[in-house]
Formats: sequence, C-alpha cells, structure tokens
Amino acid sequence: TLINLGWVIGAYLLGSLSFAVIISRAMGLNDPRTYGSKNPGATNVLRSGNKAAAVLTLLFDAVKGWVPVFFALRAELSDGWVAAVALAAFLGHLYPVFFRFVGGKGVATALGVLVGINPLFGLATLATWIIIAAFFRFSSLAALVASIFAPVTYLLWFGGDAIGLAVLIMSGLLVWRHRQNISNLMNGKEKRLGEKA
Ligand code: G3P
Repeated sequence: TLINLGWVIGAYLLGSLSFAVIISRAMGLNDPRTYGSKNPGATNVLRSGNKAAAVLTLLFDAVKGWVPVFFALRAELSDGWVAAVALAAFLGHLYPVFFRFVGGKGVATALGVLVGINPLFGLATLATWIIIAAFFRFSSLAALVASIFAPVTYLLWFGGDAIGLAVLIMSGLLVWRHRQNISNLMNGKEKRLGEKA
C-alpha cells in the first residue's frame, strides 16, 4: 500500500509539471498565463504564434499522463490503484504543486491517460477531438465532445469498473474547467484554433 501511494504521489508530481509554462520559458516565449485565455495549455500556447511550442506542450502534457498509467498497468497494480494513479496525474495538471496550484484544463493529459489505459481507446477519443476540431475549429468544443465520448465508450467497451469511474471523473472535471469556454461558445466569443487573442 505504501508503494502504491508512492505511485499516486509520483503521478501527481509528474502531472504538476505544467509544460506550457516550462516549454514557453525554455523557448524564451511569454508566459501563457499572461495572454489569450491565460490557460497553461497547448491551445493557448498556439496563440503565441509558435506552433512548435504548442506541439511540444501537447506532447509533453500527454506523455506525463501516459507514463504513470502505462507503467502502473505494467506493474500490475489493481484497477483501483491504476484509477488513482490516472486521477493523480490529471489532478496534478489541474492543480500543480509547482505552480501555486493554478494549472490547465486537462485535455492533453487526459488524452495521455486514455492512451495509457488502452491505446485504441485513447486514439478513438483523439479521433473524436480531431473530427470536431476539423469541422468547427474550436479546441474547447472538440475537448468537450471528446470528454462525453470517452466515459460512454469506456463503459460500452470495457464495462463499469474503477478505471471507468476515473475516466468519468476526469471528464466531469474537464467540463468544469471549460466553463469559461462554454459561456464563450454560447456568446459567440470563443476564439477559433490558432486565432490570436
Ligand atoms: O486545452 C484546453 C482547450 O480545450 C481550451 O483552451 O486556451 O482555449 O481555453 P483555451
């Protein structure tokens, strides 16, 4: 149990690495918490105009969700502990200990977590995001639709278990973190993908 708690804490610390901030700093760009939506995430980093920084943010924020889940499964932790590890990485991104608990919205990290749970399931969720983003050009709308797709698909595909519950909780938190985006979408004020702030 102590070892399992170590996994959870490790996942939280990894999730707490806000790569939007870290990569922007490393590349000499402005802090994403100061412009656009002020969100430390790949979508907002893209508003800086630096595509490479946005892609790297997406990649690293996803990998930090993937790593703990993938290795927890390989270490044969129980479903309950894998669920806790997955949630811990996600919560680290939302409430990072290294950044005064002011983190992002969790889209990239949730994607990494889902790929860690099951690559095909993760890619199916990513495909949902891509289709909605391609049609509507709103990153937030794509994330919201994908976050409804994921728990429903998980339940149908793998049944209701602890990991599915973690997916559902992540989705709920992800929607909650997008409340400003939801009101912007309804008021027609949401910025399209890549549109400058
Ligand atoms: O990844 C978060 C995305 O869904 C919305 O980001 O910066 O437009 O609030 P942003």
